[in-house]
Amino acid sequence: MLHGPTPGPVDDDDLADAYPWPDTTERPYVRAMMVSTLDGAAAGDDGLSGSVSGGADRAVLRAVRRFADVVLVGGGTMKAEGYGPLRARDEDAARREQQGQAKAPVLAVVSGSLALPLGEGSFADSDVTPIVFTTEKADPTKVDDARKRVQVVQLPGERVDAATVIDQLHRKGLGRIVCEGGPGLLNQVTDAGLLDEADITVSPMLVGTEKTPDTPMLKDPTKFELQHVLTAEEFLMLRYTKADPSKQQGDDQ
Ligand SMILES: NC(=O)c1ccc[n+]([C@@H]2O[C@H](COP(=O)([O-])OP(=O)(O)OC[C@H]3O[C@@H](n4cnc5c(N)ncnc54)[C@H](OP(=O)(O)O)[C@@H]3O)[C@@H](O)[C@H]2O)c1
Repeated sequence: MLHGPTPGPVDDDDLADAYPWPDTTERPYVRAMMVSTLDGAAAGDDGLSGSVSGGADRAVLRAVRRFADVVLVGGGTMKAEGYGPLRARDEDAARREQQGQAKAPVLAVVSGSLALPLGEGSFADSDVTPIVFTTEKADPTKVDDARKRVQVVQLPGERVDAATVIDQLHRKGLGRIVCEGGPGLLNQVTDAGLLDEADITVSPMLVGTEKTPDTPMLKDPTKFELQHVLTAEEFLMLRYTKADPSKQQGDDQ
């Protein structure tokens, strides 16, 4: 750790402690987990984040998931990345149960089309049945098919409302939410004012941004405060938390 509460070495076992979860009884806590190249790309020439990621980045991703309630992703990411099953290590499952959590984090996917790899990996073999949020307009045949494998939540409107997704997860007792993207879904969560923390890995590469989806401008710029900087393998793992708005107002005056 270069900057943060305890500068010095952080081993894999201590990594989860560097990403603490607050009490989420009253409100959910949403952290973004993303990797970006030096030129702001979220994906390499294969259109995947793995080609711009590395071992250190993946270690942080695993550490953050260990005591999360939910891994939230958009349908685009689910299709592109081919997520593996979400499972807990035995020692983590025991600690999670003591803390009143499910055995492992649940995968939650936001998708209008329901064109998802429902028979594979994370959908088929996770410890906890995944949840798919879609709309009432979704193709009924696809909804029926999806219900055979996952829990389907249909919400009103043309698109799934990100704020409703976060609220419904919290009501299910799933308040520790790690949003792993993609940029599209993360943009919606941030625009709804619901992003509490941005855990961004800076990858030591320049690749161009052609394979990185554009996102709309946010209604309000969201400011963050730096909590720590970890470094390994030329990567920087940054932990930012949302700046206190009252402090921001003071800064702006
Ligand atoms: N660098 C990183 O850390 C990182 C992380 C994740 C992803 N990525 C990369 O980013 C790219 C994908 O980005 P993206 O922004 O397109 O991904 P995304 O947000 O995961 O997916 C967008 C798609 O998800 C569904 N979706 C999202 N929000 C929705 C809503 N409110 N209502 C209904 N459906 C909704 C829609 O597809 P359907 O309706 O067809 O499901 C939409 O086209 C991939 O190249 C991936 O590899 C990078």
